Amino acid sequence: MKVYVPGDSAARSVGADVVATAFEAAGATVVRNGSRGMLWLEPLVEFETDRGRVGYGPVSPEAVGEILARGEDHELCQGLVEELPWMRAQTRLCFTRVGVTDPLSTTDYEANGGLAGLRAALAKRPDGVVAEVTESGLRGRGGAGFPAGVKWKTVAEASGELKFVCCNADEGDSGTFADRMLMEGDPYALIEGMTIAAYAVGATEGYVYVRSEYPDAVRVLREAIRRARAAGWLGEDVLGTGMRFDLFVRVGAGAYICGEETSMLDSLEGKRGMVRAKPPIPAITGLFGKPTVVNNVLTLASVPAILAQGAAAYADLGVGRSRGTQVFQLAGNIARGGVFETAFGITLGELVGDYGGGTRTGRPVRAIQVGGPLGAYIPVSQLDLPMDYEAFAQVGAMLGHGGIVVFDDTVDMAAMARFAMEFCAEESCGKCTPCRVGSVRGVEVIDRIVAGQDPEGNLALLNDLCELMTDGSLCAMGGLTPNPVRSALLHFPEDFS
Ligand code: NAI
Ligand code: SF4
Repeated sequence: MKVYVPGDSAARSVGADVVATAFEAAGATVVRNGSRGMLWLEPLVEFETDRGRVGYGPVSPEAVGEILARGEDHELCQGLVEELPWMRAQTRLCFTRVGVTDPLSTTDYEANGGLAGLRAALAKRPDGVVAEVTESGLRGRGGAGFPAGVKWKTVAEASGELKFVCCNADEGDSGTFADRMLMEGDPYALIEGMTIAAYAVGATEGYVYVRSEYPDAVRVLREAIRRARAAGWLGEDVLGTGMRFDLFVRVGAGAYICGEETSMLDSLEGKRGMVRAKPPIPAITGLFGKPTVVNNVLTLASVPAILAQGAAAYADLGVGRSRGTQVFQLAGNIARGGVFETAFGITLGELVGDYGGGTRTGRPVRAIQVGGPLGAYIPVSQLDLPMDYEAFAQVGAMLGHGGIVVFDDTVDMAAMARFAMEFCAEESCGKCTPCRVGSVRGVEVIDRIVAGQDPEGNLALLNDLCELMTDGSLCAMGGLTPNPVRSALLHFPEDFS
């Protein structure tokens, strides 16, 4: 009897390890897969059957005996996992193997389409690979949405013998966890994507910068890299082609700002993570001053599918300039939280209402923050917004890394605006004044508004301060902090009186 019990840290946090032990004690062969992303069902246990995998969730160790005795009659039985509406509605390219395979099995990886992208890439010239990524329309999934192919071309054309590929896995945005789930659930996809990037730009060394809060991801990635080297997927002679590329994991120390790419490079170099002024951009002067590709986990993990299936198939998905799929993450006060990979263009309302099931408390949705702590708060009147970089920018919001955090009608939006300033004050690297000092003054001025002290004067001051931080900050930390503040003021002014 083969049973899948997720080893993903979200599943482990709700008891997957003890459930796995209980199945082993009952004589089952347990595979620790990644999570399917239906977090409300975790631990979601799957039994292999002739019809496909049948899921049970959320399973407690006490339920194990009864599940084994009653089988599909058990009330926790969800039916065939692939047939669940949540799964059927998705287009999984980046997350195609997450939850399906044993994350560390190289055999499983290849049997489920792994390495097809790398093999296709190695059959082309490096500039052909860059062209394929450019034509796919893939944009940076870390938040800025910069075209990946243009970035790769800059690195490929930069002179120098030594070049690097760095993966930004310092996933610090509130309500985001897709990078973690990918690294824990399908680490070879990231390794393959980074190897393709290295081939395309002529890099020989790569680093994955993982936040210290992700110990499971660090462990899985390190073991996957060890096995990839042993299998000849990394090292001096990648897949017998003579290509040289090796990969290393580095762990951050807890600073949000190290998710900003130049801070991350400082940290990788062993320094305190401080933002560098751009230009020069990392593509020209990056790690140790060398040309460097810096991409997010999801950007790099999307590349194998693009090379395997062709740029056109990827570019066929999406809307406007937002092509392909995004791994959206539903979090906060939501009935069904988790990851949902689909083409750009789905509306915010469909994600939150149809798939997320509204709030967990059952109260009406009041605000949704998209794009992490620097993202705008969106009112319910804008639920028909399509998930598209440009559509969000038009209303002063941003998609960011695809994190969606839901709040019900008990939320105090003045407190959320204050939190944005407080977060910036806490996480600012301190290099520039608008951010370092402005955020502290921002907290004070919001406190005065809420206390009823000269509301008109202080509101004008807060608007001035937001303008200064937007225009005068060196990086997105100080520059985008006004987004949540301004959107709270615009859509929920009653909370400030
Ligand atoms: P940016 O717009 O300055 O740059 C985007 C990327 O394009 C960078 O990698 C930059 O080096 C590269 N680039 C720009 N011009 C280029 C050129 N001509 N050739 C080659 N490469 C070029 O944005 P930044 O400051 O890197 O990122 C800001 C975004 O980060 C925000 O929009 C926010 O959504 C996101 N963010 C994400 C977080 C997360 O946890 N994922 C946390 C905080 C912010
Ligand atoms: Fe540092 Fe803030 Fe300035 Fe960015 S905006 S460089 S985090 S002080």
